[in-house]
Amino acid sequence: MLRTNAFRLAVLYLGLFATSVLALLAFIYWSTADFIEKQTEATLDAEIAGLAEQYDQRGLSGLVQVIAERSAGERGDAMLYLITDPLSHPLAGNLSAWPDGDVIRPGWIAFPVEVGRGANRATHMARATTFTIPGGYRLLVGRDLRDATAFRKRVTDTLAWAGVLTLGLGLAGGAFMSRNMLRRVEAVSNTTAEIIHGDLGKRVPLSGSGDEFDQLAANLNAMLDQIERLMEGMRQVTDNIAHDLRTPLSRLRARLEVALIEKPDAARAAEVMRETIAEADRLLGTFNALLSIAEAESGSRRAAMEEVDLAEIVGSVAELYEPLAEEKGLTLTVTASAGVRVRGDPHLLAQAAANLLDNAIKYTESGGVRLTVAADEGGGRIEVADSGPGIPEDRREAVFDRFVRLEGSRSTPGNGLGLSLVRAVGLLHGGTITLADNGPGLRAILRLPAATGLPAVA
Ligand SMILES: Nc1ncnc2c1ncn2[C@@H]1O[C@H](COP(=O)(O)OP(=O)(O)O)[C@@H](O)[C@H]1O
Ligand SMILES: [Mg+2]
Repeated sequence: MLRTNAFRLAVLYLGLFATSVLALLAFIYWSTADFIEKQTEATLDAEIAGLAEQYDQRGLSGLVQVIAERSAGERGDAMLYLITDPLSHPLAGNLSAWPDGDVIRPGWIAFPVEVGRGANRATHMARATTFTIPGGYRLLVGRDLRDATAFRKRVTDTLAWAGVLTLGLGLAGGAFMSRNMLRRVEAVSNTTAEIIHGDLGKRVPLSGSGDEFDQLAANLNAMLDQIERLMEGMRQVTDNIAHDLRTPLSRLRARLEVALIEKPDAARAAEVMRETIAEADRLLGTFNALLSIAEAESGSRRAAMEEVDLAEIVGSVAELYEPLAEEKGLTLTVTASAGVRVRGDPHLLAQAAANLLDNAIKYTESGGVRLTVAADEGGGRIEVADSGPGIPEDRREAVFDRFVRLEGSRSTPGNGLGLSLVRAVGLLHGGTITLADNGPGLRAILRLPAATGLPAVA
């Protein structure tokens, strides 16, 4: 705990906090004390001005009389008076003798006074100003600082309590903050440790507060999702290669072995080689298809996306398949509205369109194939409709899986990866692929969202 960053931060925070609180309290104390002192002096100044006036009007005897009047009895205003003759004998006042106090500044002294009688006796500090009157008489006008001292004490007590309270709260707050923060960091580090030990399915828990830690956790989780997706894709590709490429490779090998045992003449040897090359080409095709699917699924080509015109892409694909359709006696109709733009990977989109068109032509024996590009819900749509056997409704999901080929299609060439790639490309672009009945035939619709930042095409 002591070595953690959070604790150090909390201590630093507490230090800053304490310093500023103490500075504030010191300032309050200083200005309050200053205010009390000024008030005491102002009272004394007013008193002295009054006495000076009396002295001017009525002379020394008048002054003595006034002082005698003012110091008679308990007046409760804490004023102190004393006037003495040149021999320091008191003439009037409520002090018994001239105090020998400390001179705090010229004309001002501070001294202790005893007040009250019996059990109520107490010693207070007092402050006074002194004058020498012509003739050697001396005058002292002062004030018992009892109230001021009491007030000052109350202020210091209050400030001390406030200080203790704030420091306590600061300490508790700092400890709470660092504990809280540490717990969140610990959750992240626990999860990562579990993941390192092989459980990639683990995710960092969110507190639901949406704070920085939650954002960090959400980003980490998104990153882990992405990593898991990539790993899953890779695992599938390796699985597929292991299971589905082994058979054709063994077949290829067996064919070559048989040919070798047969001791073929030149013509037969050439035929076997041609067959072998065709088989190898199919294998390469399967490899490439698997790689394309993995690539599309991983999203690693997302950076290669650009704004593309669907009609352009589909147009060139249709041109490639035109001869094929003609050869089978099928009519290929292309309806492509211009200006349907989406954000995408032109190479993968062309591949997807080619796969749909290839299927339509491959599985249709008579009739026609219709290829349409149109604006759709703000985005675009590639639709391929044929008049072939179609796909039964309960198989329309399964055909998207890798290597799935329906009964009756096994005699036609193919690897069962075409629709898998179409779906992966659709997902990569944030779109969807749906298979529908064309009564008769199949209607495959690849919907793609609009290019972001472009006005939707009407
Ligand atoms: N247009 C279509 N008409 C009828 N069946 C189709 C059509 N398109 C696809 N299929 C069925 O879906 C299966 C999977 O298609 P695909 O993934 O392209 O693999 P492949 O074409 O290599 O067999 C095909 O084997 C076929 O049975
Ligand atoms: Mg196909």
